[in-house]
Amino acid sequence: MCKVYAIASQKGGVGKTFTAESLGIGLANKGYKVLLIDTDSQGSLTASLGYTEPDDMETTLYTIMANEINDKEYDHNTLGILHQKEGIDLLPCNIEMSGLELTLVSVMSREMVLKRYIDTMTGGRSERHFS
Ligand SMILES: Nc1ncnc2c1ncn2[C@@H]1O[C@H](COP(=O)(O)OP(=O)(O)OP(=O)(O)O)[C@@H](O)[C@H]1O
Ligand SMILES: [Mg+2]
Repeated sequence: MCKVYAIASQKGGVGKTFTAESLGIGLANKGYKVLLIDTDSQGSLTASLGYTEPDDMETTLYTIMANEINDKEYDHNTLGILHQKEGIDLLPCNIEMSGLELTLVSVMSREMVLKRYIDTMTGGRSERHFS
């Protein structure tokens, strides 16, 4: 059974990125398998985990979501996932995501695109927590 946590707030600078990173590393230290998904086009979580130039990265959450939208086949378990020395995995994000936000406006069931990816990664067995 997987647990999926979403950390979101429209308010800026309230500790979303810091909470995601700390929670992820803390859970990994306890022995859990953790995948952090950066969904912010600023790429702050990606940068704070050592990728200081996220906009230079070729494969990111944008790639995954574009594949999902276009029904393109890809290896869910490997594409874009970076293994961190902290014991966590990271799916990075960068400025390309801001373009995708516009594309999504006309995509059917756009609110399900990320869910489809997460459901595949968890085998559909997950508890969801939103904070
Ligand atoms: N619990 C905390 N105690 C002290 N400082 C914190 C805490 N959480 C976050 N901070 C600091 O507050 C600042 C903003 O945090 P963070 O970048 O995580 O916010 P954010 O909500 O992700 O911002 P943005 O909306 O820009 O993405 C950072 O300097 C971070 O180090
Ligand atoms: Mg942030």
